[in-house]
Amino acid sequence: MVASLAVIGAGNMGRAIIDGILDAHVIPAEELLVVDMNQTPRRELAERGCVTTDRPLDAITRDQMMLAVKPQSFPHLAGQIGTLTKPTVIITIMAGLHSSTIREALGENARVVRVMPNTPCRARAGMAAVALGEGAKPGDEELAMRIFESIGRAELVDESQMHAVTAVSGSGPAYVFLLAEAMQQAGVELGLDESTAAALARQTITGAGRLLAESSDSPAALREAVTSPGGTTEAAVNILLERGLPEMLAEAITAARDRSEALEQPGDASTVR
Ligand SMILES: NC(=O)c1ccc[n+]([C@@H]2O[C@H](COP(=O)([O-])OP(=O)(O)OC[C@H]3O[C@@H](n4cnc5c(N)ncnc54)[C@H](OP(=O)(O)O)[C@@H]3O)[C@@H](O)[C@H]2O)c1
Repeated sequence: MVASLAVIGAGNMGRAIIDGILDAHVIPAEELLVVDMNQTPRRELAERGCVTTDRPLDAITRDQMMLAVKPQSFPHLAGQIGTLTKPTVIITIMAGLHSSTIREALGENARVVRVMPNTPCRARAGMAAVALGEGAKPGDEELAMRIFESIGRAELVDESQMHAVTAVSGSGPAYVFLLAEAMQQAGVELGLDESTAAALARQTITGAGRLLAESSDSPAALREAVTSPGGTTEAAVNILLERGLPEMLAEAITAARDRSEALEQPGDASTVR
């Protein structure tokens, strides 16, 4: 049987997820209820065959519900939904909100499945970690896994690992974009014009990412394969290693993990994430 789903929040991330669900036919459009306060996403998704509304309470008519609003919008949203009167799988992508907070707000019938996606979901190349949270039973993750596999990859983890996931793959795209910025800037300093330097950096990172995705070799093996002894790549990589790039990244990722833990503390739901 096909599950019916309500997605609450058709903003940046919600919209990418909904488009993936529809494009990959994970759920037929007529089984998908989209809840958003804004008319534009509602109109566009109604044109694709979804049922749309601005009333979050309508979501309780569906078997499962995905919460894709900002964490700071959740207290208001929970007030609109109220206490769930039947067991419902709640798939949440809200960063830093523990499943216990969601269950406290929606009641004992909430079976919470937590997901940490990342922005490449918008290019159908996302990485999502899925965890069974409070009240969830084994198997409740099934729809979330299918949805996130349709817009990239999905891995099942323990909820306690969500902080590490956030630090590695949730925030990870920003580390790669920073690398692109720095490579572009270095190219300009070496005399390339801005648009050529931008194209070289962008396509190199895109191509390296694709190679990494398609190859069964480890990142270290792929790096060694392009690093001939005494060559140009070795000259650059030696500097990156001597200056401690791996240690710097480890420190940065640990800081992101620590921040994620701090944001999850009760009373921090209003903090911008
Ligand atoms: N972007 C990322 O990389 C990323 C990664 C992992 C997780 N996430 C999580 O994804 C979630 C969504 O982020 P986003 O960037 O997609 O947010 P967003 O663009 O603000 O989208 C949220 C949408 O939900 C609507 N909304 C808010 N409260 C509502 C309510 N009570 N009823 C109906 N609609 C409501 C908002 O309308 P208004 O704009 O009018 O408020 C907006 O259209 C966040 O919890 C974030 O932590 C994001």
